[in-house]
Amino acid sequence: MLELDTTIITPASVFETSGHVARFADWMVKDTKTGDVLRADHLVKNVLEARLAGDKEARGLAAAPVVEDKKKKKGKGAKAQAVQLADEVVAEYETILAKLDNYSGADIGELCRKHNLRNPDTGNEVSEPQLFNLMFASSIGPTGQHPGYLRPETAQGHFLNFSRLLDFNNGRVPFASAQIGRSFRNEISPRAGLLRVREFTMAEIEHFVDPENKRHERFDEVRDIKLTLLDRHIQEAGKSTTTEMTVGDAVDKGVIANETLGYFVARIYLFLTKIGINPARLRFRQHMANEMAHYAADCWDAEIHNSSGWTECVGCADRAAYDLSVHSARTGHPLIVREALKEPIVTESEVVEWNRKALGQKFKQDGATIAKTVEALDQAQLTALKGQLAQGSAPITSADGKTFTLTPDILTIEFKTTKQWVREFTPNVIEPSFGLGRILYTLLEHSFWSREQDIDRGVLSLPPLVAPTKVLIVPLSARVFDPLVKEVHAKLRKAGIFSRVDDSNQSIGKRYSRNDELGTPYGVTLDFASIQKRTMTLRERDTMEQRIGGIDEVVEVLIELVNGSMDWAQACERLPAYDGVQAVE
Ligand code: ATP
Ligand code: GLY
Repeated sequence: MLELDTTIITPASVFETSGHVARFADWMVKDTKTGDVLRADHLVKNVLEARLAGDKEARGLAAAPVVEDKKKKKGKGAKAQAVQLADEVVAEYETILAKLDNYSGADIGELCRKHNLRNPDTGNEVSEPQLFNLMFASSIGPTGQHPGYLRPETAQGHFLNFSRLLDFNNGRVPFASAQIGRSFRNEISPRAGLLRVREFTMAEIEHFVDPENKRHERFDEVRDIKLTLLDRHIQEAGKSTTTEMTVGDAVDKGVIANETLGYFVARIYLFLTKIGINPARLRFRQHMANEMAHYAADCWDAEIHNSSGWTECVGCADRAAYDLSVHSARTGHPLIVREALKEPIVTESEVVEWNRKALGQKFKQDGATIAKTVEALDQAQLTALKGQLAQGSAPITSADGKTFTLTPDILTIEFKTTKQWVREFTPNVIEPSFGLGRILYTLLEHSFWSREQDIDRGVLSLPPLVAPTKVLIVPLSARVFDPLVKEVHAKLRKAGIFSRVDDSNQSIGKRYSRNDELGTPYGVTLDFASIQKRTMTLRERDTMEQRIGGIDEVVEVLIELVNGSMDWAQACERLPAYDGVQAVE
C-alpha cells in the first residue's frame, strides 16, 4: 500500500464533483415548539426501543431499567415506561427497527405521524424530516472568495492523486493507497464519548482493482475465516437474524459480491480480533439498497457491540468506478489504466467513413444532425443502410422527425476488422474505512473487567500488541535495586519494548493491580535473589500467574511475548512456576 497524507481543507469543487455537496446529508427533524434539532432515524430508534423495553418490563421479561446515569442531563433521551403493547405492535416495531437504515425522509415523517413519535425530551411533535449537509464549510484565501470544506472523509485525497499513485505502481492494478488522518462532520447530535464526534481520526484504504477481475491473489489465506453476517435481504424482510459463514462460502454463494470485498472484510475481522475486540460481539452488516452512500455499489459494516448497542466501526464499501469517473469527467483528465494486451482484442464491425466536405455542401447546418443520426445506428441498421446505398440512395430520419436522402458520395460503409492492443479501463475501488476512535472506545469496553475477589479494581486486558506499556518493572524496594532496574530497563529498551518502573512505596501487589488497570500485560520483580542469583520473576496480568528465570532468559521470553511469536502457555513451558521462593539454580 502506498501511504498518503493529503489536505484537510479542500476546494468546494472537489466535493461538488464527488457528490458530497448535494448528497452527504442526514435527515433531521425539529421540535415544533422548542426548535430543538434531532437526527430523524435516532429519534425513531430511541422512542421505539424505549417502548419495547417498557413492554418487556410490563410482561415481566426484563427488570426495570433502574440504573440512572447521574451525570446525564435530566430529561435527556427516551425513557422506558412499563406499558404492554399488543403482539402485532411489538412485531411492527421490531420490523421498523430492523429496516430503519433503509427509510427515506418521507418514510420517517410517515412513521412519526403513524406511531405518534415525539421529541422524548419535551413530548412535543416534530417537523417533517429535512436534509442536513454534514460538511463544515470554509473559505480559502485572504479575500475568502474560494469556497472550501473540511474533508468529511480522507478518500477524496486518494482519488485526486490517482495518476501519481498509478505511476508509482508502474501503471498497473491492483494496488492500494492508505491514509490516516482527521475528518470532520457537523453531526446533528454528537454523543457517547468517542462514538460520535465532530472531528475524528479515520484510517482509509482505497484498493484499486480491475472491474472485470475482482479476484484476490491472497483470498485463499482468509477463505476459512468464519464471520457473523447480517445480509441485506434478511434486514429488508424486517429481521436481524445473523448467519455464521466462512468468507469462502459467503463469496461462493454470492452473499459477499466478490473475492476482493471478501478479502478485506476478512482482514478487518483479523485486525479487530487481533487488537482485542471480542469476536462474539462483532458482526458484519450489509447496507440495504436505500441506505448506501451515494458513491457505493455495495457496503458491509463491521459493527461492534457495546453499551450503546451495535455500532458501525469500520465500513467496507465497493465504490465501483464512481469517484474516478466523476473527477475525470469534471477535469477532463483521464483517470484510467492502460493495459497492454498479449493478444489483441479483434473486433469486426461496419465502419462509417464520411466525406465531410460533401456532407456540408449538400446539407449545410443539418450535416451534424445527419452524422449524429447515422452514428447512433446499431450494426444491423448500418448493414441495411449499406445495402440501400449500394442501390443508389438511402433515406434516414433524425430524432426530430426530418427525413434526408443519403447518397454514396456523402458516406461509405465498410465491414472492417480492427485490432486493439491496449485495453483502457477505469478501475473499481474497494474501500475499508476505519474510525479509530470508535474502535478504541469499543476495545476499552471489551477489555475492561474486574476480578471477583477485587471488584473495586479493574483489569484492562489489552493484548500486548496494543497495550501502551508492555512491561512493568517492580523492584522490591528503591535504591538498592537501582543498578538491576537500570539493566533490565535498558535491555528491554534496546529490544524496542516500552517498560515503566514503579519503585513507589506501595506493596508489590498494589503496584501490580494499579498496572492491571492500565492494561500493562507483564510485570517483572527484582528482589534480593535477583542480586544474588541474577533471577527475576515474570507475572502475567490476566491470570496473575508468576514464573521465574534468569534475567536474560526472562528478557528473551518477554521479547517473544511482546512481538507475538510466543503466547503465555509457551512461556510457561520455558520458565518454571514461581511459588514464592526464589529457587532457580
Ligand atoms: P453513522 O451512520 O454512525 O453516522 P456513517 O455511516 O456515517 O456512520 P461512515 O461514513 O461509513 O460512517 O464512516 C466511516 C467510519 O468513520 C465509520 O465506520 C466510523 O468508524 C467513523 N465515523 C463516522 N462518523 C463518525 C463520527 N461522527 N465520530 C466518530 N467516528 C465516526
Ligand atoms: N470514506 C468512507 C466514508 O466516509 O464513509
